[in-house]
Amino acid sequence: MAEALRVGIAGLGTVGASVARVLRDKAAELTRQCGRDIIVSAVSARDRKRDRGIDLSAAKWFDDPMEMAQTGEIDVFVELIGGDEGSARASVKAALEAGRHVVTANKALLAKHGVALAEIAEKKGVLLNYEAAVAGGIPVIKTMREAMAGNSVNRVFGILNGTCNYILTRMEAEGVSFDVVLKDAQRLGYAEADPTFDIEGHDTAHKLSILTSLAFGTKIAANDIYMEGISNITQADIRAAGDLGYRIKLLGVAQRTESGIEQRVHPTMVPTASVIAQVHGVTNAVAIETDILGELLLSGPGAGGNATASAVIGDIADIAKSRPGFQHGPVFGRPAKELKAYKKAQMRSHAGGYFIRLTVHDRIGVFAAIAKRMADNDISLESIVQHAVSGEAAAQKTVILVTHETTEAAVRKAVDGITKDGHLTDKPQVIRIERAG
Ligand SMILES: NC(=O)c1ccc[n+]([C@@H]2O[C@H](COP(=O)([O-])OP(=O)(O)OC[C@H]3O[C@@H](n4cnc5c(N)ncnc54)[C@H](OP(=O)(O)O)[C@@H]3O)[C@@H](O)[C@H]2O)c1
Repeated sequence: MAEALRVGIAGLGTVGASVARVLRDKAAELTRQCGRDIIVSAVSARDRKRDRGIDLSAAKWFDDPMEMAQTGEIDVFVELIGGDEGSARASVKAALEAGRHVVTANKALLAKHGVALAEIAEKKGVLLNYEAAVAGGIPVIKTMREAMAGNSVNRVFGILNGTCNYILTRMEAEGVSFDVVLKDAQRLGYAEADPTFDIEGHDTAHKLSILTSLAFGTKIAANDIYMEGISNITQADIRAAGDLGYRIKLLGVAQRTESGIEQRVHPTMVPTASVIAQVHGVTNAVAIETDILGELLLSGPGAGGNATASAVIGDIADIAKSRPGFQHGPVFGRPAKELKAYKKAQMRSHAGGYFIRLTVHDRIGVFAAIAKRMADNDISLESIVQHAVSGEAAAQKTVILVTHETTEAAVRKAVDGITKDGHLTDKPQVIRIERAG
């Protein structure tokens, strides 16, 4: 049997401790599958005394992950620290430069430095595997990088943040407000004490930027993503969406268009009957549309110790099975040096259907004025409905419009016009409608 693969794990938190535990519990099965033993020979974290719920005394302890990255006592450096700078970046770079394979779950690091790190890995002829960085346990990287060779991707989109999907699912099921569900999600540990990163779309954007590069062979451009979070989604939107046959999801979407590539993260209305609309709670899903395959949808657990460990261990097993001296496939599907510059499509030219919810003064002429603004901007309407607002706000009406395909620029101009006309009593709500099968 080949020599054992020696793994060094940096970061022993939720994911790191789970990886160590599964490697121990499944050691015999992994040896059968990989044809060699996989052993945890080194570990690093901040607090050596902390109980990790697993005996790691056989592994050499490193206070400094940089030192562990450079030691000749490991073959694979597994980075599970997190963060786009600091120890995570420095130690991954050092491990690659020292000719060690690297496995990481760190989307923030890859979104910012992925291409530069890929160049080092490819120059050194080592693997940089990152399955767990996008959609946790779902094997989307492997699917896009390996199983879809030869396919040209037209669009990739998905539910990439479990916290947002959990909140939207409960808002719809229980009829309660965003704030109430968020507080509960924080109490249950589904949302961070500072939830901004998740609910405003940053986490989804990091993951989307990696998928975009794999899909279109472009350099990662995480700062060029149009982003709107879910904090302004109300019960009125969720109810109106349901009445119209839609469900609201926070999607990350990357799409090839005539003017470039659209990368956008925003609340989206998807048809209630579509497959992606059935993805509830913390579950993630990624849909990929290609010329040869058609549409593929992968769904499953997007976070959590065990699910994420499953992806990390798959990456380690690939390294265990790889042959010495074998030229590895490129990190982002194409050689890092050949990744094309990312050509951004302007959001103004985005084409699609729109849901627009307006709260207006209940007076004569308002409905006609709204319809005129739409017509003036060449927006054709699929439906326009008005409802009385009951209770204290009886002098107001809600007007809900659904447009046929139009452009972002036209919708913004029409809504600005309606706002200037002085008929609105509240901020207008605009939600894009996404085509989904
Ligand atoms: N949690 C998930 O469900 C999930 C899912 C997908 C991807 N990820 C990614 O996986 C990575 C790890 O996430 P996590 O949830 O496991 O984080 P975590 O629970 O906060 O664990 C982080 C670990 O890193 C260690 N650490 C921090 N700074 C260090 C340093 N300077 N030197 C050495 N060790 C250091 C910590 O040590 P101490 O324990 O001693 O403080 C801790 O063990 C992140 O990149 C995250 O984005 C997580």
